[in-house]
Amino acid sequence: MSVKVAALTRSNPNHADINEFVARWSLGEASRRARVYSCALGQFFLGNFYAGGSMTLALAFNDLTLGYDRLPAVQRLQTEIHQGSLTAVVGPNGAGKSTLLKGVTGVLSPLRGKVEFGSLDRSDIAYLPQQSDIDRTFPLSVVDLVAMGLWREIGPFGWLGKKQKARIDTAIAAVGLTGFESRPIGSLSGGQMQRVLFARLLLQDAELVLLDEPFTAIDARTMADLIEVVRNWHKEGRTILAVLHDAETVRAYFPETLMLARELVAHGPTETVMTAENQFRARQMCEACEGSPHVCGRSAA
Ligand SMILES: Nc1ncnc2c1ncn2[C@@H]1O[C@H](COP(=O)(O)OP(=O)(O)O)[C@@H](O)[C@H]1O
Ligand SMILES: [Mg+2]
Repeated sequence: MSVKVAALTRSNPNHADINEFVARWSLGEASRRARVYSCALGQFFLGNFYAGGSMTLALAFNDLTLGYDRLPAVQRLQTEIHQGSLTAVVGPNGAGKSTLLKGVTGVLSPLRGKVEFGSLDRSDIAYLPQQSDIDRTFPLSVVDLVAMGLWREIGPFGWLGKKQKARIDTAIAAVGLTGFESRPIGSLSGGQMQRVLFARLLLQDAELVLLDEPFTAIDARTMADLIEVVRNWHKEGRTILAVLHDAETVRAYFPETLMLARELVAHGPTETVMTAENQFRARQMCEACEGSPHVCGRSAA
């Protein structure tokens, strides 16, 4: 056990490993390579046309209202997410951020309006739930949980072949957890658990990645490593939506921001959205909402 712990703390889990993993992944798949090149070409040729909306649409929220027991938690949302964009979803507690991601996965059906999928397929989503939504008492080992990333490939009764086992090992190594394979997930720290969940996401290899507070309650080193994973996904042309709380992280790494306060406050380039004025307005809108989601905002559904 102590050797394993030493292995983790010693390993600077590690940009080199992560980059090598992502590089091999990309080189191994012709389709991925094509997407990376077309994304780069697209950025080169389309560049400034982005503001004109000529990039491919990944998702459209069309008059979207989501809620629980018919009480809206996100109301009349109207905006679009472009393919290959890296977007932070921000807003005060209770603003509807997690609800929005659940609406995209399909776990929650709209009370009104819809989520439209443009270039993407709803079955091709990798979703990281908020840590508080994960039951860590479930008797699973690290390797069991990571292997679930291959669910789409192997199904519930499939066997893991040599190649798949190797991919699982590579994903575990990429997040710096080699040696932890048989550890029960209940015995992991918050940061280690988040690394395990990222290894599962790496295996899912999805076009659309949804992350709910991926960097909350983890140590600085884990955060730096996992940000690197997200940046690599972005370079590969995947579309990423991440719920975040820390404004500095949003400004440093996320080109786009969608600010929610039950309703849309603003959505666009981060520097134009993360203004003091918008943040103040979002807080005010959510204070007015407290305890009574159905009377929030301009127009209840
Ligand atoms: N399972 C649920 N049942 C009933 N209400 C819920 C449920 N989950 C969230 N809510 C309510 O929906 C609103 C938005 O919640 P949530 O999307 O979790 O906010 P955020 O992620 O922005 O903090 C809050 O008022 C919350 O209490
Ligand atoms: Mg939340």
